[in-house]
Amino acid sequence: MSRPNPLRDPQDRRIPRIAGPCALVMFGVTGDLASKKLMPAIYDLANRGLLPPGFALVGFARRDWDTEDFAEVVHNAVKANARTPFREEVWKQLSDGIRFVAGELDDDAAFDRLKQTIDELDESRGTGGNHAFYLSIPPGLFPNVVGQLRSHGMAEQDHDRWSRVVIEKPFGHDLKSAQELNDIVSTAFPASSVFRIDHYLGKETVQNLLALRFANQLFEPVWNNNYVDHVQITMAEDIGIGGRAGYYDGIGAARDVIQNHLLQLLALTAMEEPTSFEASQLRAEKQKVLAAARPPRDLGLHTARGRYTAAWAGGEKVGGYLDEPRIPADSTTETYAAIRVDIDNRRWAGVPFYLRAGKRMPRRVTEIALGFKQAPHLPFDETDTAELGYNALVMRIQPDEGVTLRFGAKVPGTQMEIREVNMDFAYGGSFTESSPEAYERLILDVLLGDPPLFPQHEEVELSWRILDPILDYWASLGTPPDDYEAGTWGPKSADEMLARDGFAWRRP
Ligand code: BG6
Repeated sequence: MSRPNPLRDPQDRRIPRIAGPCALVMFGVTGDLASKKLMPAIYDLANRGLLPPGFALVGFARRDWDTEDFAEVVHNAVKANARTPFREEVWKQLSDGIRFVAGELDDDAAFDRLKQTIDELDESRGTGGNHAFYLSIPPGLFPNVVGQLRSHGMAEQDHDRWSRVVIEKPFGHDLKSAQELNDIVSTAFPASSVFRIDHYLGKETVQNLLALRFANQLFEPVWNNNYVDHVQITMAEDIGIGGRAGYYDGIGAARDVIQNHLLQLLALTAMEEPTSFEASQLRAEKQKVLAAARPPRDLGLHTARGRYTAAWAGGEKVGGYLDEPRIPADSTTETYAAIRVDIDNRRWAGVPFYLRAGKRMPRRVTEIALGFKQAPHLPFDETDTAELGYNALVMRIQPDEGVTLRFGAKVPGTQMEIREVNMDFAYGGSFTESSPEAYERLILDVLLGDPPLFPQHEEVELSWRILDPILDYWASLGTPPDDYEAGTWGPKSADEMLARDGFAWRRP
């Protein structure tokens, strides 16, 4: 008999969480994210029966398109990238609610047309005056859009109808710009109506971290500096920057993923148990631990940055970062970053957290690994344990989602020889259901107004406070990042950084 998967969306087990009537207005519909993730996720939600009949999708862009053109763009994106099978009747229902508004972001007349379009949908489609505005656009354009939404009355809400704004990262470029961005957004929307997307929080295995820590008795007693001697959080990607030069150059690995995804993983790994998973409780714990986290004292010794160079990787010859189209020859952007973060509280004092992220690594893997201290005494001959490393608990976020516990075991035979072995839990082996994409979960939560998985401004600020000194230090060097060959695990300086503390990076 199959047993229920406790981590599946509540809608799968209890009363379905179906969004109420609403329109989702998307800015940035011509971007990669929209076609690869957002449009397919909307279709998948519709296909799972989680969107109401009174749902509409409105695209806004500077393109000479009409509604039919836009519907075709959505159709192609869904066909190419949706997770669930294509069903004509679902598509028909969804596409009836699709509209497109063409215009520039500073064009008042275009925002008048947008207002008319959503008013008309409220009447014809029954979207109920509820509107979510998804800003999948560069942050530099936020002031325009937010100002237009406000001056055209689209940010208004009362107890019968809501208006929400969804912001994609990067949330600023540093602390100061993040604060400015927040000031702008908050002129039109109250904090409770602002949904900041960090798609890692929508990943099922990230949520499983909470289940592992707080639904079990086994792990929490050793989850502290009495037992753990260091933590490694890795986000490796085998891809390069693809066609994203415009976005990536000047941003780099630390701003792109450490400021958000990796520091969120650190917060979930290191925080205290929240009293409940209600948004305010969860956020309070994350904020507390991020406030206790700080950059390393010696930035030169405990940070490293790298940039991939041309090499053979994965059986093909790939170019270096500077060979990518539209990357200036004098770029100093890093495609690999490693930093040490220390947490000044009772639980973690003395336990370094090492965070690393890189493009063009040997393989795609995201994991959190807790490394445990050596047993205080080994009652074996030294040669018996020569092959024994440290105990580790590894939470694999992706791919091969699961958890591995590494410990020493006796090698069969007449000798006492001890070697490391792995005990493995693989999601795929225990649960047959496939996980929803992170964006499905997050878009549904926006439409439901369910906030726990969305970082608030305070968390964003605290993350920049950790990163800003590191970024300033790198900028002050005025030198390019260290080279590493595409298809390798990063620059030598990153290995040296850990070796200095007596550790080595895991080879996941
Ligand atoms: C995004 C980054 O947030 O995450 C990208 O901007 C990165 O650079 C992507 O490739 C990785 O996401 P995932 O879900 O594939 O791990």
